[in-house]
Amino acid sequence: MTDTRKILVTCALPYANGSLHLGHILEHIQTDIWVRFQKTRGHQTHFVCASDAHGTPIMLKAEELGQKPEDMVSAIRDEHMQDCSRFLVNFDNFHSTHSEENKALAQHIYTQLEQANCITKKTIEQLYDPEKQMFLPDRYVKGECPSCGAPDQYGDNCEVCSSTYSPVELKNARSTVSNATPVLKKSEHYFFELGQFQGMLENWTKSGTLQDQIANKLGEWFEAGLQAWDISRDAPYFGFNIPGTTDKFFYVWLDAPIGYMSSFKNLCDKTGLNFDEFWAKDSSAELHHFIGKDIINFHGLFWPAMLEGAGYRKPTGVHAHGFLTVNGTKMSKSKGTFIKAQTYLEHLEPEFLRYYFAAKLTNRVDDLDLNLEDFAQRVNSDLVGKYVNIASRCAGFITKLFDGKLADEILKPELLAEFTSASEKIADLYEKRDFSKAIREIMTLADKANQFIADEAPWVLAKNDETKARCHQVCSDALNLFRILTIYLKPVLPALADKVSEFLNDELIWENIEQSLSNHSIEKFKPLLQRLDLKKIEAMVDASKQSLAADDSSTKKAAKTKSAKTDKKPQSGSDEIEAIAPEIEFDDFAKLDLRIAKIVSAEHVEGADKLLKIQVDLGGVQKQIFAGIKSAYQPEDLAGKLTVVVANLKPRKMRFGMSEGMILAAGPGGKDLWILNPEDGAQPGMRVK
Ligand code: MSP
Ligand code: ZN
Repeated sequence: MTDTRKILVTCALPYANGSLHLGHILEHIQTDIWVRFQKTRGHQTHFVCASDAHGTPIMLKAEELGQKPEDMVSAIRDEHMQDCSRFLVNFDNFHSTHSEENKALAQHIYTQLEQANCITKKTIEQLYDPEKQMFLPDRYVKGECPSCGAPDQYGDNCEVCSSTYSPVELKNARSTVSNATPVLKKSEHYFFELGQFQGMLENWTKSGTLQDQIANKLGEWFEAGLQAWDISRDAPYFGFNIPGTTDKFFYVWLDAPIGYMSSFKNLCDKTGLNFDEFWAKDSSAELHHFIGKDIINFHGLFWPAMLEGAGYRKPTGVHAHGFLTVNGTKMSKSKGTFIKAQTYLEHLEPEFLRYYFAAKLTNRVDDLDLNLEDFAQRVNSDLVGKYVNIASRCAGFITKLFDGKLADEILKPELLAEFTSASEKIADLYEKRDFSKAIREIMTLADKANQFIADEAPWVLAKNDETKARCHQVCSDALNLFRILTIYLKPVLPALADKVSEFLNDELIWENIEQSLSNHSIEKFKPLLQRLDLKKIEAMVDASKQSLAADDSSTKKAAKTKSAKTDKKPQSGSDEIEAIAPEIEFDDFAKLDLRIAKIVSAEHVEGADKLLKIQVDLGGVQKQIFAGIKSAYQPEDLAGKLTVVVANLKPRKMRFGMSEGMILAAGPGGKDLWILNPEDGAQPGMRVK
């Protein structure tokens, strides 16, 4: 074992304006497994989190519910803590960014940055809701796309034609908070001069602190040159005042990561830990942040720059995971796959999900799919069929025939040695957060244990007096193998491991892995796990449909009485149906030349999240089209497919080049967008009537 390390670990602070769903839980479980692994290995590890309490969405949500934001945040914090604890996520502290510690630290860090000349002020012009008397973040402004005229487009990009623009350019814009027409208004903002840290950040991001995929992504920002970051917001805002002002507040993302520090500070005050040992510039402790891929720039750029500028240490590692999908698509409310933590817990064992996530998590940033059938199958075959089976096949004999005592000697020391010698490899995989490989190693060992039992057939050996002693040895060996597997699985399955610990009368300490149990009393075996019943999954999916329908109607009710609008921008793939555009004359329709087109090639567009650059063939004429269908298709899957295009759309210059037509694809967005498979009859160039 390596020397004892001092490790502070965080996962992202969930916003305190709604329930946790399985996507959040993925992150909490990933982090918790890593923390438990470090603790089992004897390292001094502290795991802190908090509620992210500030910002406009939280302020408006509390108003919608008729509550004080402090009260709403505090109630949701309780709910989040309870959900996490039921998923066996074992925080050492769960604080709030709306706390005294956080206020003091945010103001201190800001003051340090100001003294280091990293803060500048500039007057900027933004959309303002004259009725509600507040500035409007992009997501609270809707209007017609300045490029294609599509109605009901949000903030700064069009979901129909994918063009990007400033919210100021939207036509017939209105505030989604009050429905008023926004006006432009000037105000002075405070900026953090991120550009001063570019050199430091380029080195830091390349020093092994980030996954390669992330370091490359941030490289694009460096190429463009880092811009100053707007860190102030005007009243009304739920947050902390900027020192020396009464109507300027820290932008929520300024004080959110400081929440990591303040939650730890709060823990230090409660337990006597030394704060500076972990945060001082010369700290030798490790600091690890686990986050989702959507918040990388905050953790890979702004946060380390703030720490550097204010004289603190920087993170040792920022570990990003991908997004959770369910049954291959973005979680969907109507399909019942938008599953809240609580809904899951009402139907299924938390450790099933912990195991499944562990079996699929890698240290890359790829999305992770929870396929519900595969989930049931995997849990039943691995956990019940392989792992628990080892104990359930052998324990009874020890109790019934051998007085609950394991044999004096190990029958197959070489098999045991094979199990214990996997220890460092498995530890290394946990350490590198390559949990899926660790689980694969462990399950390969479980297969070997089962093979050993099958070969020896203790149920046959038990029947004969001459072979009884061998039955005793076989079952004792098998339970020793089971003990080792349980030690390896303990970070993933802590409650199960506790039950095994009681059953085996052993503490299951990794360090003692080689101390096999001989001439040792065990307890009577009690079933450790029930098989996962598919009906329970169906019930969970049904309940997810119901619970969200209930949420929707309660929100709608609140919206009606308070005439407030929901505060969430619907994501592509959500179930909202866009309003139908104003009627057009038949003559307008007749102007459209719709053609079958064959996709010749498709490629990614550097710097565009949604766009693909597509070459189509319209029966001899080739056109280049930019289409916002990246969420649904890999470019290599598109070549050879047929689609319908508007062939006579006037070419438009987009940010990435000329687009000479429009691809028509149907579906709710996200991954559900359909393009034609080549079928008999349709030929490139044919007119669609
Ligand atoms: N409050 C910020 C984080 C501040 S950290 C200083 C925030 N909150 S969040 O509630 O929106 O998300 C919390 C974490 O959950 C983020 O790391 C986010 O990436 C993760 N996830 C949210 N939805 C997710 C999925 N569907 N799948 C996986 N992770 C997801 O961002
Ligand atoms: Zn548009």
